[in-house]
Amino acid sequence: MRFDVLTLFPEIVTGYLGQSLLKLAIDRDLVHVHLHNLRDWARDKHQTVDDRPFGGGPGMVLKVAPVVESVEAVRQLDANPGHLIVLTPQGRRLDQEVVEELAAYQRLILVCGRYEGFDQRVVELLEPDELSIGDYVVNGGEVAAMVVIDAVMRLVPGVLGDPRSFAEDSLADPRRMLKHAQYTRPRDYRGHKVPDVLISGNHPEIAKWRERERRERTRQRRKDT
Ligand code: 6GU
Repeated sequence: MRFDVLTLFPEIVTGYLGQSLLKLAIDRDLVHVHLHNLRDWARDKHQTVDDRPFGGGPGMVLKVAPVVESVEAVRQLDANPGHLIVLTPQGRRLDQEVVEELAAYQRLILVCGRYEGFDQRVVELLEPDELSIGDYVVNGGEVAAMVVIDAVMRLVPGVLGDPRSFAEDSLADPRRMLKHAQYTRPRDYRGHKVPDVLISGNHPEIAKWRERERRERTRQRRKDT
Protein backbone atom coordinates (compact mmCIF):
# COMPACT_ATOMS: atom_id res chain seq x y z
CA MET A 1 0.00 0.00 0.00
CA ARG A 2 1.23 3.46 -0.89
CA PHE A 3 0.78 6.64 1.17
CA ASP A 4 1.73 10.10 -0.11
CA VAL A 5 1.86 12.85 2.50
CA LEU A 6 1.79 16.50 1.46
CA THR A 7 2.95 18.76 4.26
CA LEU A 8 4.87 21.91 5.11
CA PHE A 9 6.76 19.93 7.75
CA PRO A 10 7.91 16.59 6.34
CA GLU A 11 10.49 16.26 9.15
CA ILE A 12 7.67 15.76 11.66
CA VAL A 13 6.67 12.61 9.82
CA THR A 14 10.19 11.34 9.06
CA GLY A 15 11.04 10.46 12.65
CA TYR A 16 7.89 8.47 13.05
CA LEU A 17 8.52 6.47 9.86
CA GLY A 18 11.79 5.19 11.25
CA GLN A 19 10.10 3.54 14.22
CA SER A 20 8.68 0.18 15.17
CA LEU A 21 5.98 -1.63 13.26
CA LEU A 22 5.83 0.93 10.49
CA LYS A 23 9.58 0.75 9.89
CA LEU A 24 9.35 -3.03 9.65
CA ALA A 25 6.46 -2.79 7.20
CA ILE A 26 8.40 -0.30 5.08
CA ASP A 27 11.56 -2.43 5.18
CA ARG A 28 9.51 -5.42 4.09
CA ASP A 29 8.02 -3.43 1.18
CA LEU A 30 4.46 -3.85 2.42
CA VAL A 31 3.99 -0.12 2.95
CA HIS A 32 5.50 2.79 1.04
CA VAL A 33 5.35 6.34 2.39
CA HIS A 34 6.35 9.26 0.19
CA LEU A 35 6.72 12.71 1.71
CA HIS A 36 6.23 15.90 -0.32
CA ASN A 37 6.84 19.46 0.79
CA LEU A 38 3.97 21.77 -0.15
CA ARG A 39 6.46 24.61 -0.32
CA ASP A 40 7.94 23.07 -3.47
CA TRP A 41 4.76 24.22 -5.26
CA ALA A 42 4.96 27.82 -4.11
CA ARG A 43 5.18 30.20 -7.08
CA ASP A 44 7.11 33.21 -5.80
CA LYS A 45 10.70 33.60 -4.73
CA HIS A 46 9.73 33.73 -1.05
CA GLN A 47 8.01 30.36 -1.45
CA THR A 48 4.79 31.67 0.04
CA VAL A 49 2.16 29.04 0.73
CA ASP A 50 -0.11 30.96 3.09
CA ASP A 51 -1.78 34.34 3.19
CA ARG A 52 -4.12 36.49 5.32
CA PRO A 53 -7.81 35.57 5.20
CA PHE A 54 -10.18 37.73 3.15
CA GLY A 55 -12.61 39.38 5.54
CA GLY A 56 -9.97 39.68 8.22
CA GLY A 57 -9.31 37.67 11.35
CA PRO A 58 -6.35 36.03 13.01
CA GLY A 59 -3.98 33.54 11.48
CA MET A 60 -3.08 32.54 7.99
CA VAL A 61 -4.83 30.42 5.37
CA LEU A 62 -3.13 27.92 3.06
CA LYS A 63 -3.28 29.23 -0.48
CA VAL A 64 -5.31 27.37 -3.06
CA ALA A 65 -2.69 27.12 -5.85
CA PRO A 66 0.14 25.30 -4.04
CA VAL A 67 -2.26 22.77 -2.57
CA VAL A 68 -4.18 22.04 -5.79
CA GLU A 69 -1.06 21.94 -7.93
CA SER A 70 0.89 19.74 -5.54
CA VAL A 71 -1.96 17.24 -5.38
CA GLU A 72 -2.21 17.18 -9.17
CA ALA A 73 1.54 16.60 -9.49
CA VAL A 74 1.72 13.94 -6.79
CA ARG A 75 -1.24 12.06 -8.29
CA GLN A 76 0.81 11.68 -11.50
CA LEU A 77 3.60 9.87 -9.68
CA ASP A 78 1.73 6.58 -9.80
CA ALA A 79 -0.62 4.88 -12.24
CA ASN A 80 -3.20 4.68 -9.45
CA PRO A 81 -4.53 8.21 -8.76
CA GLY A 82 -5.28 7.24 -5.15
CA HIS A 83 -7.94 8.29 -2.69
CA LEU A 84 -7.47 11.92 -1.68
CA ILE A 85 -7.76 12.87 1.99
CA VAL A 86 -7.54 16.34 3.47
CA LEU A 87 -6.99 16.40 7.23
CA THR A 88 -9.09 18.99 8.98
CA PRO A 89 -11.02 19.22 12.25
CA GLN A 90 -14.06 19.98 10.04
CA GLY A 91 -13.91 16.54 8.44
CA ARG A 92 -15.91 13.42 9.16
CA ARG A 93 -14.65 11.76 12.28
CA LEU A 94 -12.22 8.86 11.96
CA ASP A 95 -13.21 5.60 13.62
CA GLN A 96 -12.33 1.95 13.01
CA GLU A 97 -15.08 1.62 10.41
CA VAL A 98 -13.57 4.49 8.40
CA VAL A 99 -10.10 2.99 8.90
CA GLU A 100 -11.33 -0.28 7.37
CA GLU A 101 -12.85 1.62 4.46
CA LEU A 102 -9.52 3.39 3.82
CA ALA A 103 -7.54 0.15 4.03
CA ALA A 104 -9.38 -1.06 0.91
CA TYR A 105 -7.47 1.48 -1.22
CA GLN A 106 -4.07 0.69 -2.72
CA ARG A 107 -3.03 4.33 -2.42
CA LEU A 108 -3.94 7.20 -0.11
CA ILE A 109 -2.88 10.81 -0.61
CA LEU A 110 -2.96 12.78 2.64
CA VAL A 111 -2.83 16.58 2.67
CA CYS A 112 -1.91 18.14 6.01
CA GLY A 113 -3.28 21.52 6.93
CA ARG A 114 -1.55 24.13 9.08
CA TYR A 115 -2.36 27.64 10.16
CA GLU A 116 -6.09 28.37 10.29
CA GLY A 117 -6.97 25.99 7.50
CA PHE A 118 -7.28 25.79 3.71
CA ASP A 119 -8.74 28.11 1.14
CA GLN A 120 -12.21 26.62 0.57
CA ARG A 121 -11.51 26.28 -3.16
CA VAL A 122 -9.15 23.40 -2.35
CA VAL A 123 -12.24 21.46 -1.33
CA GLU A 124 -14.36 22.73 -4.24
CA LEU A 125 -11.78 21.77 -6.83
CA LEU A 126 -10.37 18.54 -5.46
CA GLU A 127 -13.46 17.17 -3.67
CA PRO A 128 -11.30 15.33 -1.14
CA ASP A 129 -12.43 13.05 1.65
CA GLU A 130 -12.19 15.51 4.57
CA LEU A 131 -11.19 13.66 7.74
CA SER A 132 -10.81 14.63 11.39
CA ILE A 133 -9.20 12.45 14.03
CA GLY A 134 -11.64 13.60 16.72
CA ASP A 135 -13.32 16.59 18.26
CA TYR A 136 -10.29 18.44 19.61
CA VAL A 137 -7.71 20.58 17.86
CA VAL A 138 -4.09 19.63 17.27
CA ASN A 139 -1.59 22.04 15.75
CA GLY A 140 -1.41 20.54 12.33
CA GLY A 141 -2.54 17.78 10.06
CA GLU A 142 0.77 15.92 10.40
CA VAL A 143 -0.18 14.25 13.66
CA ALA A 144 -3.56 13.40 12.16
CA ALA A 145 -1.95 11.97 9.01
CA MET A 146 0.28 9.76 11.16
CA VAL A 147 -2.77 8.51 13.03
CA VAL A 148 -4.45 7.60 9.74
CA ILE A 149 -1.34 5.87 8.36
CA ASP A 150 -0.74 3.99 11.60
CA ALA A 151 -4.32 2.74 11.91
CA VAL A 152 -4.66 1.82 8.23
CA MET A 153 -1.32 0.09 7.79
CA ARG A 154 -2.10 -2.34 10.62
CA LEU A 155 -4.80 -3.74 8.35
CA VAL A 156 -2.45 -4.29 5.41
CA PRO A 157 -2.01 -8.07 5.08
CA GLY A 158 1.33 -9.21 6.48
CA VAL A 159 2.06 -6.11 8.57
CA LEU A 160 1.09 -7.69 11.86
CA GLY A 161 3.05 -10.82 12.64
CA ASP A 162 0.04 -12.67 14.00
CA PRO A 163 -3.20 -11.93 12.11
CA ARG A 164 -5.10 -12.73 15.30
CA SER A 165 -3.66 -9.49 16.72
CA PHE A 166 -6.05 -7.33 14.80
CA ALA A 167 -8.93 -9.76 14.92
CA GLU A 168 -8.78 -9.37 18.69
CA ASP A 169 -8.23 -5.61 18.73
CA SER A 170 -10.70 -3.36 20.40
CA LEU A 171 -13.31 -2.32 17.86
CA ALA A 172 -12.17 -4.79 15.20
CA ASP A 173 -15.32 -6.90 15.09
CA PRO A 174 -18.51 -5.54 13.57
CA ARG A 175 -19.99 -5.00 17.04
CA ARG A 176 -17.12 -2.53 17.72
CA MET A 177 -16.53 -3.77 21.25
CA LEU A 178 -13.64 -2.82 23.48
CA LYS A 179 -11.09 -5.43 24.47
CA HIS A 180 -11.35 -7.51 27.64
CA ALA A 181 -8.90 -7.02 30.53
CA GLN A 182 -5.61 -8.90 30.22
CA TYR A 183 -3.13 -10.27 32.75
CA THR A 184 0.34 -11.75 32.74
CA ARG A 185 2.62 -13.02 35.53
CA PRO A 186 2.71 -12.78 38.50
CA ARG A 187 -0.62 -14.26 39.55
CA ASP A 188 -0.69 -12.10 42.66
CA TYR A 189 0.68 -8.56 42.86
CA ARG A 190 0.15 -6.69 46.13
CA GLY A 191 -2.92 -8.78 46.75
CA HIS A 192 -4.43 -8.08 43.31
CA LYS A 193 -5.05 -11.50 41.82
CA VAL A 194 -5.54 -12.77 38.31
CA PRO A 195 -9.13 -14.06 37.89
CA ASP A 196 -9.18 -17.83 38.53
CA VAL A 197 -10.91 -18.64 35.28
CA LEU A 198 -7.88 -17.41 33.27
CA ILE A 199 -5.63 -19.92 35.05
CA SER A 200 -8.16 -22.76 34.87
CA GLY A 201 -7.16 -24.00 31.41
CA ASN A 202 -10.89 -24.23 30.63
CA HIS A 203 -10.93 -22.55 27.24
CA PRO A 204 -14.68 -22.43 26.64
CA GLU A 205 -15.07 -20.77 30.07
CA ILE A 206 -12.22 -18.34 29.31
CA ALA A 207 -13.89 -17.37 26.04
CA LYS A 208 -17.18 -16.82 27.85
CA TRP A 209 -15.50 -14.68 30.53
CA ARG A 210 -13.77 -12.53 27.92
CA GLU A 211 -16.95 -12.05 25.92
CA ARG A 212 -18.78 -10.96 29.07
CA GLU A 213 -15.94 -8.55 29.92
CA ARG A 214 -15.98 -7.00 26.46
CA ARG A 215 -19.72 -6.45 26.59
CA GLU A 216 -19.62 -4.97 30.08
CA ARG A 217 -16.70 -2.63 29.33
CA THR A 218 -18.21 -1.42 26.11
CA ARG A 219 -21.54 -0.76 27.84
CA GLN A 220 -19.86 1.16 30.66
CA ARG A 221 -17.27 3.09 28.68
CA ARG A 222 -19.11 3.76 25.44
CA LYS A 223 -22.51 4.77 26.74
CA ASP A 224 -22.54 7.49 24.09
CA THR A 225 -22.50 5.10 21.12
CL1 6GU B 1 -7.20 16.47 10.89
N1 6GU B 1 -6.21 18.57 12.14
C1 6GU B 1 -6.10 19.37 13.19
N2 6GU B 1 -5.31 20.43 13.13
N3 6GU B 1 -6.73 19.16 14.33
C2 6GU B 1 -7.51 18.09 14.38
C3 6GU B 1 -7.68 17.22 13.31
C4 6GU B 1 -7.00 17.49 12.18
N4 6GU B 1 -8.53 16.27 13.66
C5 6GU B 1 -8.87 16.55 14.90
N5 6GU B 1 -8.27 17.65 15.34
